[in-house]
Amino acid sequence: MEQSISNEQSTEEKIEQKIEQRTLDVLVLAAGLGTRMRSDQAKVLHELDGRALINHVCRTATALAPRKIYVVIGHQGEDVKTAVLEELDNEHVEFVWQKEQLGTGDAVNAARQFLETEDSTLLILSGDVPMIRAETLAALVQQHHNHRGKGAACTLLTVKLEDPTGYGRIVRDEGGVFQKIVEQKDANPDEKTIKEINAGIYCFDTKKLFAALSSVKNNNAQGEYYLTDVPGLLRDSVENVSLYQHTDAREVSGINNRVELADLERTLCRRTVSRMMLDYGVTFIDPKNVYISERANIGRDTIIYPNVSVEGETEIGDGCTIRSGTRITNSRIGRGVKILDNCVITDSEISDNCAVGPFAHLRGKAKMEESAKVGNFVELKKTVLGRGSKASHLTYLGDATIGERTNIGAGTITCNYDGKNKHSTIIEDNVKIGSDTMLVAPVRVGSGSVTGAGSVVTKDVPPDSLVAGVPAQVKKNLREKDNTEAKSV
Ligand code: UD1
Ligand code: CA
Repeated sequence: MEQSISNEQSTEEKIEQKIEQRTLDVLVLAAGLGTRMRSDQAKVLHELDGRALINHVCRTATALAPRKIYVVIGHQGEDVKTAVLEELDNEHVEFVWQKEQLGTGDAVNAARQFLETEDSTLLILSGDVPMIRAETLAALVQQHHNHRGKGAACTLLTVKLEDPTGYGRIVRDEGGVFQKIVEQKDANPDEKTIKEINAGIYCFDTKKLFAALSSVKNNNAQGEYYLTDVPGLLRDSVENVSLYQHTDAREVSGINNRVELADLERTLCRRTVSRMMLDYGVTFIDPKNVYISERANIGRDTIIYPNVSVEGETEIGDGCTIRSGTRITNSRIGRGVKILDNCVITDSEISDNCAVGPFAHLRGKAKMEESAKVGNFVELKKTVLGRGSKASHLTYLGDATIGERTNIGAGTITCNYDGKNKHSTIIEDNVKIGSDTMLVAPVRVGSGSVTGAGSVVTKDVPPDSLVAGVPAQVKKNLREKDNTEAKSV
């Protein structure tokens, strides 16, 4: 009897064996515009956890090591292609154009020339079902291959939903045997009460799929060629259709509108935050009001205040404090770092025991070495601020390398751009840059030197010198005991 029991086989070895026995190809449907998104952008390009939906699906598919991943593209196909190739190797992916979006059946049909005669298993995924896990797909493929000892023609991933609205329903007979899938818009009132839905994820015997697809018609409520007609057609021709009933509904949630996208983003974030509290020992003052990427890592006893965003591949060490309004993207933060309110930190590195903010901006590979400090309204771009050095107020440091224990006075600016090129500034150890100093790059300030307030430094400053003025001139050698003023040059 066709029951909705999932695991017909048990051990992982068996999964691998069986998958290896039969060639596996993957087809991802991603040609639709996604009208319900009300967007100028194709649905699969909308982002979840900072990555295009399509990339979540393709990345998961690669975990099954298929021979090839076919991606059916149409709406903004070139952009979808670019997005996919950002994460996947060209060798493992083939793009298939669907000229007009005439339905999911037509989308699969677009790949006919590549697959029709293949003696393989075809796993079909939807580009708008991003949370599906590789383990679930592996179990689906396993069941497909092992069905009644010889494999099924089709295996459907189904799930029961409290609110099945919008999904295709799984119609079974009294004995629980699969009959057909009926789409929401074509369902009669009885069928609409069915809670078991089609997740849009299927395994097919490739040849049987394409043979049955030829008889799919578009005489339905939407005037589309439905892929979902194929399982019913296969069953009518006495082929085996197997059902894999999954229990985690969120994993198979499709995204059709922005409410669903936001819900899924929240779900993912909530899961990440819970994992960080329970497994890593991170404190969240207000767990509902943070955005933390699934790909981020945060250390033990770090405290995250409300309205903090931690995006992308960010690593934050133990015992840090991150105050409200701060966004950290693709950055590495050491241990014991204090980041005050409203800082923006992207593609940067902050070492142990540093202090940052409030209102600081670090970007473009900025690096703070141990115990360095950056205060309010300070911007660091492609700059190294050495160990124990400080830039506490109102400063721009771009393309600069700053040594240890150097103090950058309020209002200092590295004038790194001459309108054509960027130039670098080097400030060595133990330097005191006076308030409002302009460092006209390329320029170097030697160790132990001091610049007077308001200096415009246009030439290299030798070590242990005091310079001042516009343009700055050497006033004193700070090493000589008899500090007579040097002559103006
Ligand atoms: C589809 C299923 C439905 C299932 C649901 C699960 C059909 C007819 N219905 O409905 O049974 O419950 O998924 O999420 O398949 N696409 C194309 N070309 C097209 C049309 C769609 O590539 O011509 C792509 C879309 O980009 C999308 C996927 O196919 O990634 C699913 O299409 P969508 O319109 O979202 O189908 P649903 O109405 O959600
Ligand atoms: Ca959908």
